[in-house]
Amino acid sequence: MLELVKKQIEGFVEDVDEEAVAELFAKIPQGKMLRSKLILQIAPSKEGIFLAAVVEMIHAASLLHDDVIDEANTRRGEASINAIFGNKSAIMLGDILYAKAFYKLSALDKKVAQIISNAVVELSIGELLDVQMTQNFNTDQNRYFAMIYKKTASLIEASAMSAAYMAKKDEEAFGLYGKNLGLAFQIVDDILDITQDEKTLGKPAMQDFKEGKTTLPYIYLYERLNEEDKTKLLSLFKKELNSQERAWLYEKFEETKALDDAKKRARELGLEALAVLGDEDSRLKEIMSSLIERTY
Ligand code: FPP
Ligand code: MG
Repeated sequence: MLELVKKQIEGFVEDVDEEAVAELFAKIPQGKMLRSKLILQIAPSKEGIFLAAVVEMIHAASLLHDDVIDEANTRRGEASINAIFGNKSAIMLGDILYAKAFYKLSALDKKVAQIISNAVVELSIGELLDVQMTQNFNTDQNRYFAMIYKKTASLIEASAMSAAYMAKKDEEAFGLYGKNLGLAFQIVDDILDITQDEKTLGKPAMQDFKEGKTTLPYIYLYERLNEEDKTKLLSLFKKELNSQERAWLYEKFEETKALDDAKKRARELGLEALAVLGDEDSRLKEIMSSLIERTY
């Protein structure tokens, strides 16, 4: 069924009716289609496919902008659109995909359109908070969770909720599953930034800290260090790290179990999500565990 979503997206892009857009679009690296898998699992229907295509297009647009904001040259191991064609084209392609997705969204039930469009407001606020939080070393877990909820979990939650609404299933329960799936997804993403090498990750490792992103493992680490080490950690914030400094960080992550505990937190969120749904859906269990146990 994912193939049908891809076809639907191609149809939307053809609808834009502009060769320049088709050319740029073809160069966007393919993703995992997590949101589509979730939607189709909850609402396996023609409408579900349509909604999945809309959500994937919004997601693609947000990543085009995110790569400009993060000055990222790679996405999913391939060259990003901003790296190949420059920031201006990447931003405009994002705007075109985003606007087309909203045009298509307006053909769906009003409640679905409201849930999804509201989530886009949230994810944009989340990205703004993410940018603003890089100004200082953030030690506040609540601020981190509030930001990743908006930036990443809101659209996944909205996807699950609206799919449940379309399929006449329990919106609240599936929404909560989507929210926790999204939070766990971002925590794992933040862990992989530290644990994986450039080759596996498709982007430079330990990039977050250099960009000023104090993700959950760094927050745990800071809490557990003695005063001297806290000062040292703060001195490395936003710096280009040399191999000694990287080794020091890895050693401290190991000693304090900050990474292990961040992973534990992601697993707990996963279990909480599954507890809400009960035993009814083993495929949703698989989606959760493959996401948490992934290595890239
Ligand atoms: C990835 O975060 C970014 C997001 C999940 C959201 C980005 C949202 C915007 C740029 C708002 C604009 C929205 C639209 C629809 C045009 P990350 O940088 O932590 O993840 P990464 O490692 O995948 O880059
Ligand atoms: Mg990014």
